[in-house]
Order: sequence, then structure tokens, then C-alpha cells
Amino acid sequence: MNVLPPSVADLSDEDLLELYTAGTGAPWLRVNFVATLDGSASAAGVSGSLGGPDDLRVFDLLRRVADVVLVAAGTVRDEGYGPMVLHDVDVAWRRSRGMPDHPVFAIVTGSLSLDPASRVFTEAPVRPIVLTSTSAASSPTAAALRDVAEVVACSADGDEDSVDVALVREALVSRGYGTIHCEGGPTFLGALVAADVVDELTLTIDPSLEGGAGPRIARGSSPELRRMRPVHVLRGDGDVLLTRYVRAR
Ligand SMILES: NC(=O)c1ccc[n+]([C@@H]2O[C@H](COP(=O)([O-])OP(=O)(O)OC[C@H]3O[C@@H](n4cnc5c(N)ncnc54)[C@H](OP(=O)(O)O)[C@@H]3O)[C@@H](O)[C@H]2O)c1
Repeated sequence: MNVLPPSVADLSDEDLLELYTAGTGAPWLRVNFVATLDGSASAAGVSGSLGGPDDLRVFDLLRRVADVVLVAAGTVRDEGYGPMVLHDVDVAWRRSRGMPDHPVFAIVTGSLSLDPASRVFTEAPVRPIVLTSTSAASSPTAAALRDVAEVVACSADGDEDSVDVALVREALVSRGYGTIHCEGGPTFLGALVAADVVDELTLTIDPSLEGGAGPRIARGSSPELRRMRPVHVLRGDGDVLLTRYVRAR
């Protein structure tokens, strides 16, 4: 008796896109993570060594269908993100459906510790969006970033030094970016969970034990458990499991 889930290798890109877009709403906030069996979101400080080729294949497909790729500044810095440029095959797919060639790159930061001269901005095919607090958005640092990005204040009334992640979501949706694809990281996911604005988690389980030094995929505190409903599980190269859960509301 085979109790393992279907293999990604047997599925075309269109099959996968059908699976990953089934039941999505508008707006929709999807979060994508990889974790080890013992719950670490990184190995030696980055997530790049976790997952493998099929995880990367799905990672690219999820970017392909996104209006905006949302990443918090810690992950942008730690993972050495470059500009949000999709592969030619993804661009061709998007063009054929009347979508812009590339999704917008949106970065969440409280401190604005982002280098305006970095490739994230200088080589961006679409002007990125930096989402920050109201107080940071009126600082001199914000003025420099405004040359290369749209800087958006997302603080709740009376809390001008904090970023309200529900307002981050609203800011993107109000600009027409209803399909939001978030690539982390853990601090940001913790805030998204606390605000209960996650519609979907796609989690790749890497069949390894990290030992305990790495972070979990979410860091923070939530007033209550956010129940998720499994939608599918697939098996990928290197024996990873690619899971998809949506919020059970
Ligand atoms: N396994 C995976 O799939 C995965 C995915 C992503 C990241 N990671 C790993 O996670 C680690 C980084 O963890 P992290 O928790 O530092 O990541 P993070 O959440 O991306 O970064 C934290 C930083 O992002 C900004 N930020 C996040 N939430 C915010 C909020 N609610 N309000 C304002 N600013 C906010 C702040 O930036 P400022 O300091 O600029 O204010 C904060 O210091 C790295 O090792 C990375 O490799 C793993």
C-alpha cells in the first residue's frame, strides 16, 4: 500500500497552478515558507539550503501568479534579495494573460534600514513599495528611499511608530494588488498571524533535523490559534512535502 502523496514530477506547471490557485479569493494573502522536520525556518542562517528543486519550482510558480511579492526587511537583508525579476517563461505566461511582466516588490520595515543604491531598487523592473510606520515615512531616510520606491505609511491612529500589518495588506489591495504573495520572514509572519490576515500558508517540509538553533517560521504572539484547513500535500524531489493550507474561517 502506497501512502505517500502524489509526486510533483508527474504534474505540469499548469496542473500545479490549478492546484495552487483553487479556491483562492480576492483579495488573497498567501504566505510561503520552508521548514525542517524539527521546525527550523533556516539552516546556518538562511533558508536557501532547505527545500530543493521542486520547492523552487513551486516558489517560482507562486511568484508567477502574484500581483505583489511582499517580504519583510530582515529576510530581504539576510537572504540577499535582488530585484524582483521573473524568469522569461513566467513573463511570457503573464503577458499572455494580460498581466504586467513582473509583480511589484513590497518591503516591510520599521527602521527603513534599506540601501536605496541596492539592486533591489536600482534594477527593479517595477518601482518597489516600502511599507513603514508614519513616523519613519516622514524621516530624512524616507526621503532618500522615495527616489527609488513608493514609501507608504501604515500606522494605526495613535500608534505612529509601529507598522500595522492589516494596513499593509489594505495598502496593497487599494493599489490593485489583490493577489499578495508573502515570502516571510518569521517576525513578519508572527505579526500577520496576530492580525489574522493570512489566507493561506504553503509550507514545504524539508526532511531534515536542524537541531534547534534556527527560528520557527513565525515569531511573536497571537491572541488565539488560527485554524488552517489542509488543501493538498505533494511530494517533491529530495523527499520534501509541499503542503497547502487555507485559513478555516
Ligand atoms: N524558511 C523560510 O521559508 C524563510 C523565509 C523567510 C525568512 N527566513 C529566515 O528567517 C530569518 C530572518 O528572520 P526575521 O524574523 O528577522 O525575518 P523578517 O520578518 O523578514 O524580518 C524582520 C524585520 O522585518 C521588518 N519587519 C517584520 N515585521 C515587521 C512589522 N510587523 N513591523 C515593522 N517591521 C517589520 C523589520 O525590519 P527593520 O529592522 O528594517 O525595521 C524587522 O526587523 C533568516 O534566517 C531567513 O533566512 C526563512
